[in-house]
Amino acid sequence: MKLVGKTALVTGAASERSIGWGIARELALEGADVAVNDIAPSEALDARAEELAAMGRRSLAVSADVTRPERVEAMFAEVVQALGHIDIVVSNAGIIRWQHFLDITPEELRAVVNVNIMGTVNVCRAAATHMIRQGNGGRIIINSSVQSDVQFPITPVYGATKKAMHTLVGALALELAPHRINVTHIAPGWVRSPLNDISPELQTPEGVEAQRRVIPLRRDGHIDEMGRAVVYLASSDGDYVTGSSIRLDGGLAISKYSL
Ligand SMILES: NC(=O)c1ccc[n+]([C@@H]2O[C@H](COP(=O)([O-])OP(=O)(O)OC[C@H]3O[C@@H](n4cnc5c(N)ncnc54)[C@H](O)[C@@H]3O)[C@@H](O)[C@H]2O)c1
Repeated sequence: MKLVGKTALVTGAASERSIGWGIARELALEGADVAVNDIAPSEALDARAEELAAMGRRSLAVSADVTRPERVEAMFAEVVQALGHIDIVVSNAGIIRWQHFLDITPEELRAVVNVNIMGTVNVCRAAATHMIRQGNGGRIIINSSVQSDVQFPITPVYGATKKAMHTLVGALALELAPHRINVTHIAPGWVRSPLNDISPELQTPEGVEAQRRVIPLRRDGHIDEMGRAVVYLASSDGDYVTGSSIRLDGGLAISKYSL
């Protein structure tokens, strides 16, 4: 096991079908103690923490809205109090809206920017603050998207927030390298999580099949595959990796010739 003695926090991990849970579970399988977060207290979030405990790990369910800096601060304090320290932080919470550019309302625009950018910045700031104070280095891993590399219609603002993460990761990696804090992101393609349940393109079997056809590997990605990439970045295997990303998309970003 690669992460024995490490503690981790994963945001946006309440649903058992979500990427956040795939990440939390894979970290725990490698021996890490793991705190899981989501926006509201829920039976689902508690159930995730109980599943981690059943794996023999120390665990914690901590609800907080990542868009609120004071709640994020309190969450980190709670995690450190319960688990002793914090070595791995995965900023995974995110939302999407499928809207053509001219249909986006100011409210929707604010919501997507708030969660995806402000939320990520809040979590990264708190993570860096705690890790620098601890003096033991650390890993900050953001869940961006294949949209940090390629553009799609109907999700223009979401795509812009995910592209922004690429720049954030590079700048943070430079600032935090002297503290031995590696900053990276994973860029998933298509994962059939709750986020995609209302995707207009995936409402019919034909739509799902069409989606598969644009992916060279001809399938969606699985949450455990996302989790294993995070394990790589969080463990000593990823010691020399910072300021970059791993694209986990079955080749979607290079698929222009595969239709
Ligand atoms: N599913 C995909 O195909 C896909 C592809 C690329 C990137 N991603 C990214 O992966 C991440 C995880 O998404 P997912 O697909 O598992 O979807 P998901 O909807 O299952 O998970 C996202 C979780 O974030 C939580 N959340 C939303 N706002 C929050 C807030 N303000 N504070 C705390 N938690 C909040 C939600 O309640 C939800 O449980 C997101 O950042 C998403 O953009 C997903």
